[in-house]
Parts: sequence; structure tokens; C-alpha cells
Amino acid sequence: MRVADPVAGHNDVVTQKARWFESPADPEKQLAAVGYLSDTATSTTTFLAGALEKPLLVEGPAGVGKTELAKAIARATGAGLVRLQCYEGLDEARALYEWNYKKQLLRIQAAGDQPWDETHDSIFTDEFLLTRPLLTAIRREEPTVLLVDEVDKTDVEVEGLLLEVLSDFQVTIPEMGTVVAVRRPLVVLTSNATRELSEAIKRRCLFLHIDYPDSEREREIVVSQVPDVEEDLAGQIVEVVAKLRGMELRKAPSIAETIDWARTLLALGTGTLDAAAIDQTLGVVLKHASDHDRAVRELRLRASTGPVTGRATGQGPR
Ligand SMILES: Nc1ncnc2c1ncn2[C@@H]1O[C@H](COP(=O)(O)OP(=O)(O)OP(=O)(O)O)[C@@H](O)[C@H]1O
Ligand SMILES: [Mg+2]
Repeated sequence: MRVADPVAGHNDVVTQKARWFESPADPEKQLAAVGYLSDTATSTTTFLAGALEKPLLVEGPAGVGKTELAKAIARATGAGLVRLQCYEGLDEARALYEWNYKKQLLRIQAAGDQPWDETHDSIFTDEFLLTRPLLTAIRREEPTVLLVDEVDKTDVEVEGLLLEVLSDFQVTIPEMGTVVAVRRPLVVLTSNATRELSEAIKRRCLFLHIDYPDSEREREIVVSQVPDVEEDLAGQIVEVVAKLRGMELRKAPSIAETIDWARTLLALGTGTLDAAAIDQTLGVVLKHASDHDRAVRELRLRASTGPVTGRATGQGPR
């Protein structure tokens, strides 16, 4: 229900409180129902983000499920997902709004002898406004999850913009006034920590660090994402991935790559992850030649003193 014109003095606006989750344990249950397996810390922090209406800053290595968490929250709660993908050079016009200059120009040309004041007033209206993700999320009246993805990739100036949005959930458009959220979105920011975010942003957010899950949890994730994979094979994949993560690689395999590996082996009809199978398919999980060489070397070394996995032959991969 619309309780106030969002383009108005914000004193007139009554923000509706959304109820996202029932209890700290509720997200874990609800997220699992939509295929996202979380732990207690993730569940509790997600609950608090909803209950306190505070943005959630999720940090961690690549491919551990940061972006997926925001998507899963939207799926679990039936909220709409609005995504702002951050990148170097992202600016206000792409993040917030911009005026549709071409359309404004056409309107000015078509106005003919109309007094300028009238023309001016008519071209700075909703009809000529191109809303970008931040403004879209603020204006939506339905429950919304706003995903600000890979926030560490933007320039520091964009943080200033985010601060206005994240502290007051409002956006000022000089020609129109202040747009205040009628219903605050649940905001999830993700970061790979390629650079330090400003203290001001951090202060406004709840912080969650997601790391690689333990083997048992990762096996569950693999089985839930690739239901046709044998539990035993999933266990072997996870075990080798854990070994790879223990090596000093340029890029350790992520959960996404573990899942890809399971899909690959399934497609090839491979039932056991032995040395030959690893050798054939290692490119699915390791994307640097140097990592590949190191892994083959180290796995062979370990294989000579014991099986690569519980079922491996003990033969070197080459
Ligand atoms: N807890 C989880 N439950 C279910 N699937 C998961 C989980 N974590 C990760 N995944 C799977 O891993 C994939 C990669 O996750 P996601 O894209 O969210 O990673 P990310 O942390 O955002 O990585 P990046 O930093 O590279 O953006 C997802 O598509 C999902 O299939
Ligand atoms: Mg991501």
C-alpha cells in the first residue's frame, strides 16, 4: 500500500516495516528450502539484517556463495531482486538515475512557442527519468532485496553515493525533490576485499565473512546442486578440492568449481575420481597452467605415499 508520495518532503512518509524472518534460525531453514545451505552465523546475520533493517556486507573469497546468498534471500522471501553490479568507472548515471536527454530534447522541440517555464517543468518529471538500480530499489513498494554486488570493484566516489542511500534510504534528485523509501529494501553488499571499504560504509553495515565450508557441508551443497551425483563421488570430489585448497595456488577452487567438477564427472559417466579422472578433468577446477602443474605434481607425490582419495589407485596421474 502506498502511504505517501515517495517524491515529497520525507516528513510525510511513513516507512512500512517489513518482516523478513521469524527468528535467527529461520533463514537457515528458509534458505535451505530454496537450495542455499547456510550455517548458524549466516542465518543469524541474515535475520538481523532484516530485523534491524541494516545492510549486510558479505565478504569472502571468490565463489563461496556471497552473491547467491542475496539471490536465495529473495527467492526464500518472495521478494523482488534488484541488482547493482559494481565495476570500475560505475557512476551515478548508471547506479542511481539519469535524465533521458534525447526524449527531453524532442519534447523541447515539440513545445514550439510554449513558455520555457512550462516546458522546463514538464521535462523534469517521471516520464523523462531513467531509474537505475539504487533508485529502483528505493521506489519499489513491494518487498525488495537490493544486491550491491562486488562493491570493492567501484571507485571510492560511488561509496559516497551508497552512503546516502544506505543511511537514510533516500535519494535526492535536485529537480524533483527527495525520494524516500516507502518500504526499505533488504540490502546485501558483496565484496572480495580487493580493497578496503571506507569505515563509513562498514559502520552502517552488519558484517558477515563467508569462507569455504567444511567438507561435510560442501558435500551437501554438491549433492543438493547436482542431485544425480553419487554421494560417494561427491565425497571424493570434495576431498580432492580440500587438498587443492591446501596447496599454494594462484586461485584456489571455489564451491562453484566443485559443483562444476561434479557435473563434469557425471557427464563423462565417471564413477570414481581416480588419478586418471583427475588428470583428465582438472581444468574444470584449476584455471592457471602453473596451478595445474603444481597440483598434478603434489597430488602425484601424495598418491605415491597413499591414495589420492579413498578409492584412487595410487598411480601417478601421468
Ligand atoms: N551455501 C551454498 N548453498 C548452495 N549453493 C552454493 C552455496 N555456496 C555457493 N553455492 C554455489 O556456488 C555458486 C557460486 O556462488 P556465488 O556466485 O554466490 O559466489 P560468490 O561468493 O559471489 O563469488 P564471486 O566472489 O566470484 O562473485 C552458486 O551459483 C551456487 O550454485
Ligand atoms: Mg559474486
